[in-house]
Amino acid sequence: MKKILITGGAGFIGSHVVRLFVNKYPEKDIYNLDKLTYCGNLENLSDVERAHNYHFLKADIADATHILSLFEEYRFDGVIHLAAESHVDRSIVNPMEFIRTNIIGTVNLLSAARHIWQDDFSGKRFYHISTDEVYGSLGEVGAFSESTPYAPHSPYSASKASSDHFARVFHDTYHLPVVISNCSNNYGPNQFPEKLIPLFINNIKHNKPLPVYGQGVNVRDWLYVEDHADAIDTIFHRGKNGDTYNIGGNNEWKNIDLIHQLIRIMDRKLGREDGQSLKLVTFVTDRAGHDLRYAIDASKLRDELGWSPKIKFIEGFEKTVDWYLQNGAWLEHVTSGAYQEYYTKMYANR
Ligand code: NAD
Ligand code: TYD
Repeated sequence: MKKILITGGAGFIGSHVVRLFVNKYPEKDIYNLDKLTYCGNLENLSDVERAHNYHFLKADIADATHILSLFEEYRFDGVIHLAAESHVDRSIVNPMEFIRTNIIGTVNLLSAARHIWQDDFSGKRFYHISTDEVYGSLGEVGAFSESTPYAPHSPYSASKASSDHFARVFHDTYHLPVVISNCSNNYGPNQFPEKLIPLFINNIKHNKPLPVYGQGVNVRDWLYVEDHADAIDTIFHRGKNGDTYNIGGNNEWKNIDLIHQLIRIMDRKLGREDGQSLKLVTFVTDRAGHDLRYAIDASKLRDELGWSPKIKFIEGFEKTVDWYLQNGAWLEHVTSGAYQEYYTKMYANR
């Protein structure tokens, strides 16, 4: 594959995937297609934007005509599709935007790939990136495997589940060379501060309340974003067409324990007294339909493709905090303007 399209490359995970591919595959042309929504930020790619093999295309994946014309013009050989509306709380407020981008946008991309490849699929690949949230919620024990039935509980996860079904259908019906992965919660540099970890880092820094939903007992499995990008590279090149791979960190944390750990690290790095920021913890109204626990059984990826995470949690967590503290300008930039309005609306009545 000479020409690789990465959608959503200006976002959190996408920017790490673009960086990895641009640096690791100088002989390939990497096209980053992104609409640059509120969380799409080309600053995330300032270190690779001048590379000879990096190209940026501004487009909305929900615009079928534009997407088809770009596929006809550039004739990509491979697609890694990450563009999405990705925040559960926003999906609860405005589900339609999630249907538009996550479902219609995905089907537009699948259709455009099928159209330009004209049923000659040799050497071609469409990789759809998804989430473990499509499987719903677990009790105290067990883990999601690739055969766990889908049971989404939020408009976000329902839209991702639908897009997964369409990706699978394009393989089963049209033989499009599709591969899918479902990953657990990512953390690391460049994540938009609407998600738990960067939001809490920003609030601790500014001595603002830390809004913990419910009792903070929900459990998530956390994976460092560069590990996810590495898994994507592995599955894109070696995954089997028509297959799904679960990706996880084997690293479950109850929210409140994770938050206490974050406070300990931040207080140390900010030169505050140990535990000083604990007083910022504020229990607020729970998220509607809040999934209790996610956990991933990633044994298929380990056994079939030999992949497992490389970055230990404590190392990744320290690196993440350091990045946000050292990139104050990035954080100030993305939390100015519309972010303030979002924050007030989302947290005012909790
Ligand atoms: P993000 O919200 O940080 O970035 C999404 C990117 O998509 C942004 O650059 C945005 O501008 C772009 N985009 C949004 N709508 C678009 C449209 N209509 N047309 C073109 N571009 C558009 O998301 P993320 O956290 O990096 O997630 C990337 C992908 O990984 C998503 O598909 C998400 O479902 C999946 N995923 C995320 C996580 C996680 O923990 N963040 C875990 C598993 C899977
Ligand atoms: P989030 O980062 O939004 O990811 P997801 O909902 O996709 O797992 O949230 C992670 C966990 O943190 C989830 O259980 C909800 C909780 N949470 C809070 O307690 N407070 C917050 O302000 C946010 C954004 C999340």
